[in-house]
Amino acid sequence: MSPTLLKFDNLVSGYGDTMVLRNVSGAVTQGEVLGVLGRNGVGKTTLMKTLAGYIEPQSGSVVLNGRNINALAPQDGLRSGMAYAPQENVVFGELTVHENLWLHLDDKDESRYASCLENFPRLGERMGQRAGLLSGGERKLLSFTRTMGLSAPLTLLDEPTEGVQPENIQRMADLVRSRCARGATYVIVEQNLEFLLSVATSVLVMDHGQVLLDQSISGISRNELEEYLMV
Ligand SMILES: Nc1ncnc2c1ncn2[C@@H]1O[C@H](COP(=O)(O)OP(=O)(O)O)[C@@H](O)[C@H]1O
Ligand SMILES: [Mg+2]
Repeated sequence: MSPTLLKFDNLVSGYGDTMVLRNVSGAVTQGEVLGVLGRNGVGKTTLMKTLAGYIEPQSGSVVLNGRNINALAPQDGLRSGMAYAPQENVVFGELTVHENLWLHLDDKDESRYASCLENFPRLGERMGQRAGLLSGGERKLLSFTRTMGLSAPLTLLDEPTEGVQPENIQRMADLVRSRCARGATYVIVEQNLEFLLSVATSVLVMDHGQVLLDQSISGISRNELEEYLMV
């Protein structure tokens, strides 16, 4: 049995006086994908920001690889096992596609993005263009590619397929699955059930800042999930 890579317990988190997460708990095992679902405004992005260290929880814990990382800033070395693609502000519009991919990398290793760029050739063709000229879906693909290239043990993706063309969504799923087969672990927030069900090994359904359902994908049907999303 693989070890638990990420565990979060009783997270209470929000913005100033606005409490959003109310005792949210969950976990993801190494090599697996936790899919996070829920209607708009239920706290999915707040959960991701809390896991990534952009918001410090008021109480509860985030444990990565057995270490409590609650109070660590996103750039702290102990968080380096984590890569995060936020839902908003996904790329630097004034920089080129190439700069968006390579600027933040110390090693400038050209092979990091090879598998993504093979799958998304349009991105490769537009390396010299400003990222701000890309469509919303293309910017999401760029953000996905940049995050995947970090090869982090744990990757957090917040609505990665928003606005992306169906054939590319399929390829994103293939890329996630192939990294998982080699031991990578994901937490993915998604509205696209087809994509989510094709990659997730377990699902966490949220409503009003709380967990409605947390279970293995094998025990639940698509219909049941759709019903949860309609409540
Ligand atoms: N920066 C912020 N300041 C105050 N409230 C916020 C902020 N961001 C989000 N919220 C509120 O927190 C709640 C949850 O938002 P969010 O986590 O983005 O939900 P989801 O990702 O599920 O759509 C919403 O009511 C939203 O209005
Ligand atoms: Mg969101």
